[in-house]
Amino acid sequence: MPPDLKAALDRAASLTEEAVAKALDGERGAVADAMSYAVVGGKCLRGFLVLESARVLGVDEAAAVPAAAAVECVHAYSLVHDDMPCMDDDALRRGQPTVHKAWDEGTALLVGDALQALAFELVATGPLPPDRRLSLSWSLARAAGLRGMVGGQADDIAAETASHALTLEDISALQRRKTGALIEWSAAAGAAMAGAESGPFETYGRALGLAFQIADDVLDVEGDAALVGKALRKDQGRGKATFVSLMGLDEAKARAEALVTEACDGLSGYGERAETLRQAARFVISRQN
Ligand code: IPE
Ligand code: IPE
Ligand code: MG
Ligand code: MG
Ligand code: MG
Repeated sequence: MPPDLKAALDRAASLTEEAVAKALDGERGAVADAMSYAVVGGKCLRGFLVLESARVLGVDEAAAVPAAAAVECVHAYSLVHDDMPCMDDDALRRGQPTVHKAWDEGTALLVGDALQALAFELVATGPLPPDRRLSLSWSLARAAGLRGMVGGQADDIAAETASHALTLEDISALQRRKTGALIEWSAAAGAAMAGAESGPFETYGRALGLAFQIADDVLDVEGDAALVGKALRKDQGRGKATFVSLMGLDEAKARAEALVTEACDGLSGYGERAETLRQAARFVISRQN
């Protein structure tokens, strides 16, 4: 991974962890402990996208941190629930036992609930002008909810038992909501904070989000479980509808590459300033975890 990208991802992760720790300050008990556990150890791609798009558009880092931490809280909540027995039933996440394994199902449910609420607490506070915070809250709610991640997760679960195979259009729509919505929101967050034109960042985020989920589906088939830190070779057996299930590995990879080119081209107007975002797009399909 390019050193600039590595440094930026690491910084996003530590700023997120700090912001969540500060917001939870003084809270004790299983739910608080498991919330802290659930937000650490990931790549922090979404938090990075918020901070980096903000940096490209000249927004102060301190002003962008609450939104970066917020989207990582929503993402962490989605994973805690995604891993539960009623959904994908997974025991390992980020190389550690999933929350319902390390604690119990009731705690995992509440951890997800509380992380989602904390995300909106974070976005509502901080140094940005109130109208910008309102706009970020509204768009994050849309991206996280039924029209976004939750809707996509519902489609993903429904597809497991669907009587007919999903089409390319169905799968694109499913993945755009399930994974794409939060990634798109993150990539466009800097523009929302700066009051700048969001179109190029939305184009970038939309293509990146789809490429990201294709890479996740490819990793499920051919990744190294020790590096990925979660159970692999599960999607086919569960009947998941993915680009890989529909078009096979080679075509899915070619599609992801074309999407990365589309993502990078979307930012051509930003020249060198957007280079770390372009590196992130390339990383998304070459990653091993
Ligand atoms: C995993 O997301 C879930 C998907 C949306 C495919 P990430 O691969 O970003 O997970 P972490 O945050 O790095 O663990
Ligand atoms: C999950 O997709 C996407 C979410 C919204 C959480 P997956 O179910 O493919 O993610 P992994 O493979 O468990 O990380
Ligand atoms: Mg899932
Ligand atoms: Mg899963
Ligand atoms: Mg997966």
